[in-house]
Amino acid sequence: MGRFAVITDDPGWHGKRLRQAFAERGHSASFLSLTACHLNLDGEGLPVILPGFEGKLPDGVFVRGVPGGTLEQVVLYLDILHVLKALDIPVYNDGRAVERTVDKGMTSFLLKQARIATPPAWVMTDAAMARAIAEQELRQGHCLVSKPLFGSQGTGLRRYDTCDDLAGFSDNQGVFYLQRYVHSGAASHDFRVFVIAGKTVAAMRRSGVTWLNNVHQGAHCEPVRLDDLRLCRLAEDAVRVLDMDYAGVDIIRDEQGRYFILEVNSIPAWKGLQSVTATSIATLLVEDFLSHPALPTAKSQRAQ
Ligand SMILES: Nc1ncnc2c1ncn2[C@@H]1O[C@H](COP(=O)(O)OP(=O)(O)O)[C@@H](O)[C@H]1O
Ligand SMILES: [Mg+2]
Repeated sequence: MGRFAVITDDPGWHGKRLRQAFAERGHSASFLSLTACHLNLDGEGLPVILPGFEGKLPDGVFVRGVPGGTLEQVVLYLDILHVLKALDIPVYNDGRAVERTVDKGMTSFLLKQARIATPPAWVMTDAAMARAIAEQELRQGHCLVSKPLFGSQGTGLRRYDTCDDLAGFSDNQGVFYLQRYVHSGAASHDFRVFVIAGKTVAAMRRSGVTWLNNVHQGAHCEPVRLDDLRLCRLAEDAVRVLDMDYAGVDIIRDEQGRYFILEVNSIPAWKGLQSVTATSIATLLVEDFLSHPALPTAKSQRAQ
């Protein structure tokens, strides 16, 4: 039996499903917060201490939440994930994947660099420069969205349709992340595509009450068949480029039918998606995690 850690400050619905999926495969899963972990660099014993795993580190770590905090606190939380990985503990998704995708600017850069369709974006701290770019975009007839660099669940986004809207133009935590708005048609909608081990396992169409199509903002979810290969391949390409074990990929289709990646989530919720999907997503995640080559469970499975 393996002993696993699920890193979260709020186990809730997802934690319950993950723990159950581990238990069904004969493994235990303990919930723990990164705020309760520390580095112990006195040269004796384990260099990283996780509550409940003081004598022996977990067989693997499933990351379900990295808490916010000061820059220093967040860097320490990510360091703990990096240290675990350096000690050959499987970390799912690992700290580097979380860093690449929690930061919408880095995600946009990596996708553009790999020529994966994503809307034009600009990231800066200079307010005058941001305003000049926004004015130019709006004058050219585009609409624009500003987002918190590290945001989620549709919070803190703003849309600018005309130069008059720029009266309320402001940064988020000192940074401007601007992305060209993609019109999805009269009824706003986008897609959430869930990719595990490089393959799309489920997808849904999210229709928002407003232009924000997040489930958290009240969007209506409908299943999407996985035979839309352009949609699935775009999501899979993004996850490959970002080198992630699994991901929730947000994709929008413009009025000409072209797909664009809006963002990629390394710690995605799947409650909304599960409500329209027959297969248990927690089971698929845990099965994939347990097949990690560094895990004794995977080694014993291969030996059978
Ligand atoms: N460039 C865009 N064009 C059109 N809609 C967008 C754009 N960016 C974001 N949205 C809408 O806002 C929602 C939230 O944006 P997203 O980038 O996914 O941030 P979050 O991390 O808050 O989910 C998307 O699901 C989509 O409905
Ligand atoms: Mg999103």
